Amino acid sequence: MTSDRRLFLQFLAASPLLAAGAWAQQAAAPAGASDILTVMDFEEAARRVLSPAHWGYMASGVDDDGTVKRNREGFSRFQLRPRRLVDVSKVDLSVEVFGSTWATPIFLCPVGGHRMFHAEGELAVARAARAKNTIQVLSSASSTPVEDVAKALTTPPWYQLYMPNTWDGTERLVKRVEAVGCPVLVWTIDLLGGRNLETAERFRRTDKGDCTACHSTARGGRSIAELPMFKGLEAAMNPPGATWEYVDRLKKLTRMKLMLKGIETREDARLAREHGVDGIVVSNHGGRALDTNRSTIEALPDVLDGAGPGVPVFVDGGFRRGTDIFKALALGARAVGIGRPYVWGLSAFGQQGVERVLDILRAELQLTMRQCGAPAVKQITKSMVSAAV
Ligand SMILES: Cc1cc2nc3c(=O)[nH]c(=O)nc-3n(C[C@H](O)[C@H](O)[C@H](O)COP(=O)(O)O)c2cc1C
Repeated sequence: MTSDRRLFLQFLAASPLLAAGAWAQQAAAPAGASDILTVMDFEEAARRVLSPAHWGYMASGVDDDGTVKRNREGFSRFQLRPRRLVDVSKVDLSVEVFGSTWATPIFLCPVGGHRMFHAEGELAVARAARAKNTIQVLSSASSTPVEDVAKALTTPPWYQLYMPNTWDGTERLVKRVEAVGCPVLVWTIDLLGGRNLETAERFRRTDKGDCTACHSTARGGRSIAELPMFKGLEAAMNPPGATWEYVDRLKKLTRMKLMLKGIETREDARLAREHGVDGIVVSNHGGRALDTNRSTIEALPDVLDGAGPGVPVFVDGGFRRGTDIFKALALGARAVGIGRPYVWGLSAFGQQGVERVLDILRAELQLTMRQCGAPAVKQITKSMVSAAV
């Protein structure tokens, strides 16, 4: 073992980002996805198969990674208030969103570059989403074009927009996505100011692998122009000069439903409603945009207040248990997104891993609904959760 490798392993062991699952203490790794008991155990399974650079990119946040941790800690501020003697012999987890019915209120968040995690990348995720009747939101930074994903999913995915820096580029990208038939455009607005991926860079520096099999340089990385969805467009995205006027322009440009991802305050939720957005995703990009902000579960009530009853509010960030999902639904979220958990599943076991992650969360949510006396998602009410004082 080289001293670099040893240093890396020491760093890994000390990192609070890498709280290993229980089975990590055991000698043998699980043979298949079905052996895994909880979503968190997939984290360790993924770490074992990913290169340090890819692992670091996925696991980390920004600055001191505080918001990554805060997203998890936020759930402990809310406690369940279970009701008894309700008939829960049948439990219905289905939800209706924008006129379509889905098996559960859990959706797959946009995550860039799935082929970094598994050779079948976005296609494996699409097949899992198809098998589980789950919303897949495809990232603008995908390693597979939207046309191919739509084929694997057998229906067009929802599409996440990283806005190109010119309006001409934006029009071309949006029209391409619309031509595929994507029903919903999710514009991510929490990276317009830039970010500091410090921990990811530390991991990258410990990675001495030769990346030329997949990348154009030995040190890896990919320019925006190399992304399949940005070919032929300009090589810059997330214009820092974007304002609410851009929301109006996007609304005029497309007939797709328009959602804003990355809203964290009631003030912005109110503006989103006033500008006619069709939905909001409360998100801090999984702690990858800004550090020391609130957890998303803590920001959710604030945003719901600003959005009012007419605008569906989704949320993501740190959801790892059925009880976490239940709390967000009880506070008023329409659906709950997962990012890293399905990427862990994908990394370790491909399509089967993504399916197993969805199955575990579904089973845990179902159990929580039973135990709290809510036989249908609509029957999960605010009174079933209380906030710590
Ligand atoms: C490796 C990685 C890549 C991501 N790429 C994107 C992206 O391309 N577009 C986007 O809107 N959000 C992206 N996100 C953020 C997710 O959509 C989501 O907000 C976040 O992962 C949810 O938190 P969780 O990972 O704790 O579940 C990414 C997250 C990760 C971990």
